[in-house]
Amino acid sequence: MQAQLQLDLTRGALAPASLSDAARRFGVLPMPVLAWTPEVERETAHLYEKVKRVIPPVEWPFHAPYVKAINDLKRQRNAVILAHNYQTPEIYNCVADVVGDSLQLAKLAGASDADIIIQGGVHFMAETSKLLNPSKTVLIPDSKAGCSLAESITGADVRALRAQYPGVPVVAYVNTSADVKAEVDICCTSSNAVRVVESLGVERVIFLPDRYLAQNVAAQTKVKIIAWTGACEVHERFTADELMRYRAEDPGIKIIAHPECPREVVEVADFSGSTAMMIDYVKNNHPRRVLLVTECSMADNVAAETPEVEFVRPCNLCPHMKRITLPKILESLVYLREEVTIDPALAARARLSVQRMIDLG
Ligand code: 13P
Ligand code: SF4
Repeated sequence: MQAQLQLDLTRGALAPASLSDAARRFGVLPMPVLAWTPEVERETAHLYEKVKRVIPPVEWPFHAPYVKAINDLKRQRNAVILAHNYQTPEIYNCVADVVGDSLQLAKLAGASDADIIIQGGVHFMAETSKLLNPSKTVLIPDSKAGCSLAESITGADVRALRAQYPGVPVVAYVNTSADVKAEVDICCTSSNAVRVVESLGVERVIFLPDRYLAQNVAAQTKVKIIAWTGACEVHERFTADELMRYRAEDPGIKIIAHPECPREVVEVADFSGSTAMMIDYVKNNHPRRVLLVTECSMADNVAAETPEVEFVRPCNLCPHMKRITLPKILESLVYLREEVTIDPALAARARLSVQRMIDLG
């Protein structure tokens, strides 16, 4: 028996004056009719198989019409969706073309030959995609998808740091705006931060904006780190006491923490690495029970693929990542919004710092 579900998206209709430049170039398409029909059920059944452990059957009829419409429109538009590991399971498993951590997504954006790149992630990630593939149309379904780290520092702050520490090179975590990237020597991500810092061959570096990532890097290198004071609003909430309580209840539990967590949290963990490294750890080691100390959608995404592992979920959500939804991705594809643009002179300088990181291999 098919549920009769008809979704109304007419509120998304745009007046011509509000068309994006991309919409003027490629044209607006009609908004597809969204209904849970036997055809939709049949065509999305293989995708539901991937998420059935984390999305209850009663919810699938709400997601499936969007999933089908998005996948159809992607083909029509020659578009790809790059989704970060924190995207919700229906985005990560059912409409994304590639998934990964910040470094993987940046590399894949640079190599993409699609006409349109839709970023399933936050604004600095979309800017990085535009920097690395400037001739492409890069869209972010909600431009308010920010990041507490990226918002903690400006290009003017970096110039002031340089004046305070003349001659000391500046390393910026990719969780920064293009404005900041344009002022620094090289970027890094959580998967290569120590290597980037050591690649400079100097005694001390300025590292920004995450003070906790800075502490976690400092613990692994002899290079002296001068840190900015930013923090990730999701990872700074975890405490070592909380993790110790989980371990006291189950001494066999594996605790895996993102390096944006405070130093004392990472010290309690069995492993620390980027989101992709955390996923690889679970897939390669098959722990019986695991606590992923990071944004909690990621546990759903890994759980969908590793049924043998039990996940303990202290649920800290990133409100910025959660701004990206299937309805907004669909609107992005229909109306080609919201287009990411960067002033070309600024982009040329910002690109250098990202490219230096990529060139390290
Ligand atoms: P990763 O590069 O590890 O995916 O981290 C990005 C991020 O924003 C984590 O909060
Ligand atoms: Fe930024 Fe933290 Fe959200 Fe990652 S989880 S996007 S670092 S606020």
